[in-house]
Amino acid sequence: MIKKIEHIGIAVKDLEHATKTYQALLNVAPYKTETVEREGVKTVFFECGDSKIELLGATREDSPVGKYLSTQKEGIHHIAFFVDDLKAEMKRLQNEGFQLLSEEPKAGADDKSIVFLHPKSNHGVLVELCEDQSQF
Ligand code: CO
Repeated sequence: MIKKIEHIGIAVKDLEHATKTYQALLNVAPYKTETVEREGVKTVFFECGDSKIELLGATREDSPVGKYLSTQKEGIHHIAFFVDDLKAEMKRLQNEGFQLLSEEPKAGADDKSIVFLHPKSNHGVLVELCEDQSQF
C-alpha cells in the first residue's frame, strides 16, 4: 500500500548553493549527504515534518540527472511515495497498466529500495516508489 509522500526530489545545477538555499528555507541542516555513484547522482536530504526534501545533483553529465538537467530547467524532478511492500505494489501497478522503469527494485539513496514509474504513466510526473531496505 502507498502510505505517504516520502520525499520530493528536486534536481539542481549547483548542489552546494541549493543546499544553502534549502537550509535557509527549511531552517534546518541536512541530515544526510549521499552519492549514488552507479546512478551518477549526489543527494542531500532535509527533514520536513513527516516528509523529506531530496536535492539531486549530477556527478556526471551522462547520468540520468545530468541528462535531465541538460534538457530541462532545475526544479521538481520526482515525487516519492513510501510503500510497505514494494514488490506487491509494483505488481499491482503493472496490472493497472503503469510503466515501470525497471523490472526489479534498485538500491536508492537513504537506505531505500526504489523503483520509478515512467512520467507518461502519471500525467508528466516521474513517480518513485520506495520502501525501507531493512525489510530485506
Ligand atoms: Co528520490
